[in-house]
Amino acid sequence: MEVIVLPTPLETAALAADIIETLLRTKPDPVLGLATGSTPGPLYEELTRRHKDGGLSFTHARAFMLDEYVGLPKDHPERYAAVIQREVTDRLDIPATAVQGPDGSAEDPIAECARYEQAIIDAGGIDVQIAGIGSNGHIAFNEPGSALTSLTRPKTLNARTRQDNARFFSSLDEVPRHVLTQGLGTIGRSRHLLMLASGEGKAEAVAQALEGPLAAVCPASIVQLHRHATVLLDEAAASGLR
Ligand code: F6R
Repeated sequence: MEVIVLPTPLETAALAADIIETLLRTKPDPVLGLATGSTPGPLYEELTRRHKDGGLSFTHARAFMLDEYVGLPKDHPERYAAVIQREVTDRLDIPATAVQGPDGSAEDPIAECARYEQAIIDAGGIDVQIAGIGSNGHIAFNEPGSALTSLTRPKTLNARTRQDNARFFSSLDEVPRHVLTQGLGTIGRSRHLLMLASGEGKAEAVAQALEGPLAAVCPASIVQLHRHATVLLDEAAASGLR
């Protein structure tokens, strides 16, 4: 695990974009893993800038999302599929059909999770997985107590995560209780895990994940176990490190 601390989120986004640009320019069939939420916003903006101004192309890439809410209407703007469409697919030249996420409206969520896990394997696995970290130490939607070997599956969000994500909805009640998420084992299979965190609100979770025990109580602590993890922090997110 390498930990890189830079003054601002714009600088961590630029470094993350360098890693992704190298992959796109060197691999004929790159596979990206996409996170949602606020953290990757500056990275997606930087990739968009490099696409528009620097000719960086995504036409040969495929992408898999980390997670999705269960039960939101197909046209809800906060479905992660809609967020990724707005922030990634509509801005870059990656074909819309090359971007997949678990289907939160699937009639059989367990079968859908198995299908999704297999789709990642069939694509050859994820080359670079972008991830954030929850204030409670979750990664994707693997809440504290998630099995370290877990695969894509339905999960229940805990109260703190629903509270954290209420800012995207009109009320706390509207935040879904259930999600489909890649598991810790799924994320562990990615060839390069790029974990980003910014802001003081993440400092405690980051310190637990990086310097606490490798344990299900802090799912993001799997970065310690990952064969190739890069943790990109702004100074505020790094402020709890020893
Ligand atoms: C999103 C995801 C979550 C977020 C985490 C941090 O796809 O998997 O784990 O990365 O909740 O969210 P933000 O970035 O909004 O603070």
